[in-house]
Amino acid sequence: MTPGRIYWPLFLLIPLFLLSWKNEQEGRIADYDNLSDYIESELDSTIMHLKDLSEKSAMDKNSDSYHKARRNYKHIEWFVESVSPKDAKYFINGPLITKYSEYAQGFMVEPHGFQVLEEQLFSDSSDVDYFIQERDLLITKLEHLKNTYSQITLDDNLFLEMCQLELFRISALNLNGYDATIEKTNISETVWCFEGLEYVLNYYFRTRSSASSLESYRSSQLCIRKSKLYLQAHPDYDSFDRLTFITEFIQPLNKDLHELHQELHLTGTSAKIPFDLNNPKMFSEGSYDPQYFSMYYSDTSGIALQAELGKILFYDPILSENNRRACSSCHKPDRAFTDGLKRAITFDEAGITDRNTPSLIDVVFSKAFFHDGRAFQLEQQASEVLRNHLEMNSSLEDIVNKLRASEEYKALFRRSFKRERDAMISSYAVLKAIVEYEKTLISFQSRFDAYLGGNKKALNKDEISGYNLFAGKALCGSCHFFPVFNGTVPPFYFESEFEVLGTPLNDKNTSPDTDRGRWDVTHLPIHDRSFKTPTVRNIELTAPYMHNGIYKNLEDVMNFYQKGGGAGLGLGIENQTLPFDSLQISKKEERQIISFLKSLTDTSGLQVQPFPLPNVDTHPEWNNRIWGGEY
Ligand code: HEC
Ligand code: HEC
Repeated sequence: MTPGRIYWPLFLLIPLFLLSWKNEQEGRIADYDNLSDYIESELDSTIMHLKDLSEKSAMDKNSDSYHKARRNYKHIEWFVESVSPKDAKYFINGPLITKYSEYAQGFMVEPHGFQVLEEQLFSDSSDVDYFIQERDLLITKLEHLKNTYSQITLDDNLFLEMCQLELFRISALNLNGYDATIEKTNISETVWCFEGLEYVLNYYFRTRSSASSLESYRSSQLCIRKSKLYLQAHPDYDSFDRLTFITEFIQPLNKDLHELHQELHLTGTSAKIPFDLNNPKMFSEGSYDPQYFSMYYSDTSGIALQAELGKILFYDPILSENNRRACSSCHKPDRAFTDGLKRAITFDEAGITDRNTPSLIDVVFSKAFFHDGRAFQLEQQASEVLRNHLEMNSSLEDIVNKLRASEEYKALFRRSFKRERDAMISSYAVLKAIVEYEKTLISFQSRFDAYLGGNKKALNKDEISGYNLFAGKALCGSCHFFPVFNGTVPPFYFESEFEVLGTPLNDKNTSPDTDRGRWDVTHLPIHDRSFKTPTVRNIELTAPYMHNGIYKNLEDVMNFYQKGGGAGLGLGIENQTLPFDSLQISKKEERQIISFLKSLTDTSGLQVQPFPLPNVDTHPEWNNRIWGGEY
């Protein structure tokens, strides 16, 4: 701190002075004039510590330098993972399994980075050559990043928002065992993330102070300090109370950072991101922007009217070939848009389809659709269902013609769409309207959400423990990501993940299912039997469970996870991505997880009253069609 630059009253300086004195004790980081120097210096230190990791470290299991490198990396995680998310995920701090990158036109990525080093250092055996090779790869990657960052001008306006994103990452990934999976040092590592945020804050304090922002500085600094103390006092991964930490530290800090952002008149990012960083209520419905997930995200005119029209279409069996089946035949609102059946009934009513009808609640927060992810956009998904001979057995062309026969529908389209072709009813307009309706099927009004919104009485002790188990010891949250609880990876929601659980053929748990899931789409061995991770929001209402609907209740699902999935059950699943050892949680803990899952029930959008369907004068026989479909 340069004394000459400080104009603040002395009482404000005291805590800061104590803070910097404490930093001095811990190996003080210099007060750089700009954050690029800080980032460069942290990258340098990370690299330096990695270089200290030798063959001998691997053999002696000496993790000293590893931890030092982790600390320096975690200091700038807020930056690296925001600016270079792909490098971070695939080469620096990604998961410990071979991945197929969905959003980078699909390439296979073997595990690399810190997690491989961690595995080598903390497991019984180690392959020293592999360890050194991976260490060198990580160093090369970090040097490459350093080089890249030195060639770009870092914009001061964005850093506080990156810190807000880091708070999101901490809540949804770090605390849920997304990294540090072996050592489970996530809680103490989070202290390092906060040290990084503290540095950013102090940097602004030194360089961009204004009288109006003093209160926010003070409040954020205090919150960071209290967060660190809380983390230090509760370092145990399994018993860490994530919900308390999120509500008492993460959310208030997010609010403070946002206020500071405004008071300093920072412009913020112009990039499209999935949520509104200006919304002080982090993790609430309003903090997300469903538009971000839409194929036609720039076409926003008239979307409210389009959603109203889409709602009519969704419940109108006119969309099917026989005028007897609507989307809502299988996606029933009172069952959170599922049908209660093991697998859906075919169009001819003579058989059953291959898969269980998934919920449409929060379906918008996804980057791939169907259990096997064969559609990348909701529009594409809807067009496939309409054509599918087992489902609606129609075509967009037929549907457009049928709708054009109705004066009422013509008026509805005219009022909802500006472009002449769409106002006259086009395939685009039909799909767009249905998708706009689907985008309104969002659930953030459960008791769990009320708790996040500040109502501490909304959850009981078992439900709170249940969440902490779900996010921690039971590993659920490392696939079902807080707070949407599906497999689309926060905070950028670039891709939805597919996982191999080894789901059996039936609830006897004796043989594996024959459905090869995503393999049917990609023909990649790692995708054999992999399925999209669904949300567990409203799970109480959507039994039976899994892509094949084999489990009738949540107890059966929990039992499957307890046993370590298909591989744990001995079904010979070679490529399982779910850990296959038994979960080691007690019956009581199992019940607590189920209590938490039930706290996600949100019936607010599930009571849809039947309404009259538009008339078709030229085809009076069609007017007998039944709202919601017959079967
Ligand atoms: C016959 C019952 C049935 C009908 C009718 C039906 N669906 Fe589905 N829906 C399903 C099933 C089963 C799946 C999963 C299929 C798969 O994964 O292969 C599905 C999947 C979906 C998904 C993907 C969900 C996800 O999480 O990936 C969406 C979105 C969807 N349907 C919307 C619609 C819309 C819109 C309509 C009407 C145009 C419709 N469905 C009509 C049964 C039905
Ligand atoms: C490795 C990633 C992974 C982990 C860990 C995981 N899940 Fe899942 N979960 C999935 C996938 C993928 C599916 C869909 C499987 C299928 O359809 O066969 C799923 C399905 C479910 C379902 C049924 C959803 C439905 O709509 O049918 C529930 C409930 C569930 N998980 C809860 C949990 C709980 C509780 C835990 C922790 C004990 C957990 N999951 C751990 C990936 C995971």
